[in-house]
Amino acid sequence: MVNLPRRAILRGVGERAGTAGGKSGETLIRFDGVRKSFGAKVIYSGLNLEIRRGETLTVMGPSGSGKSVMLKMLIGLIHADAGEIIFDGQDLVTMNDEQLTHVRRRIAYLFQGAALFDSLNVAENVAYGLREQFWNTMSNEEIGARVEQSLELVGLPGIQEMRPSDLSGGMKKRVGLARTLALQPEVILYDEPTTGLDPINTGRINHLIVGIQRALKLTSIVITHDMGTAFTVSDRLAMIGRGRILLVGTKEEFRESQNPAVHNFINGIAPPSEDVASLLSSS
Ligand SMILES: Nc1ncnc2c1ncn2[C@@H]1O[C@H](COP(=O)(O)OP(=O)(O)OP(=O)(O)O)[C@@H](O)[C@H]1O
Ligand SMILES: [Mg+2]
Repeated sequence: MVNLPRRAILRGVGERAGTAGGKSGETLIRFDGVRKSFGAKVIYSGLNLEIRRGETLTVMGPSGSGKSVMLKMLIGLIHADAGEIIFDGQDLVTMNDEQLTHVRRRIAYLFQGAALFDSLNVAENVAYGLREQFWNTMSNEEIGARVEQSLELVGLPGIQEMRPSDLSGGMKKRVGLARTLALQPEVILYDEPTTGLDPINTGRINHLIVGIQRALKLTSIVITHDMGTAFTVSDRLAMIGRGRILLVGTKEEFRESQNPAVHNFINGIAPPSEDVASLLSSS
């Protein structure tokens, strides 16, 4: 288990996070009738989803269903074709680049895969976003202190000088998370934070997501295929399929869902058309 150091949470990293500027539980993000296609391929034909301030919402769905695209639309990396994406009362779809830059300072994206720079050491990796965003306002000492706090927060104090190539997969994910936390975001988008990890490291990351959530009162969207992660970290769950949301609700509502796509997904049941025994017997 990774223990969250209270000291690091209470000063520095936790300062700007949380439900600042609004009440916990109210809508912070709203996808409303969002459409997105790549050429002839329709990814979203009408995406409607609300994320409440202070909650952790997990989004599940088959590979290629558009989960990463959804997060990328939320930070303006991919533009929606139609509809509204409201963040804290403002529509992202109609924002210019400067306005989007402000939004990106409040929403941090933990990319699928750790995406660390191998040529930089851990400290430089964690500091990377800070140097980009606050090059004219933060001193080297302040950046160094923020890096130290962020590494403490993910349970990896003192590894500033290590190189990514010397880290295990689980450590890389935690350094990626430290880099995200260093930016003191209000929202964290976790894109498959436990994929490729062993059960122990998966448990560590789950514990961190819950601990950070409780300590910093962030709003989080977690994309995962891991049912353990989904049912550990979430306040609510959403399932994507066929270009829209198939179900959004509590863990209980998901466990009890009669929707075949949801039931099969969370129980790991392949559709009958993919049943190997019946395919073999029919050949
Ligand atoms: N920039 C792009 N240009 C063209 N097609 C894209 C682009 N980005 C994503 N796609 C396509 O959109 C679809 C959804 O992609 P996305 O990465 O969101 O899937 P996903 O649900 O995150 O899948 P996975 O679980 O495998 O990560 C895929 O078919 C992908 O090839
Ligand atoms: Mg993805």
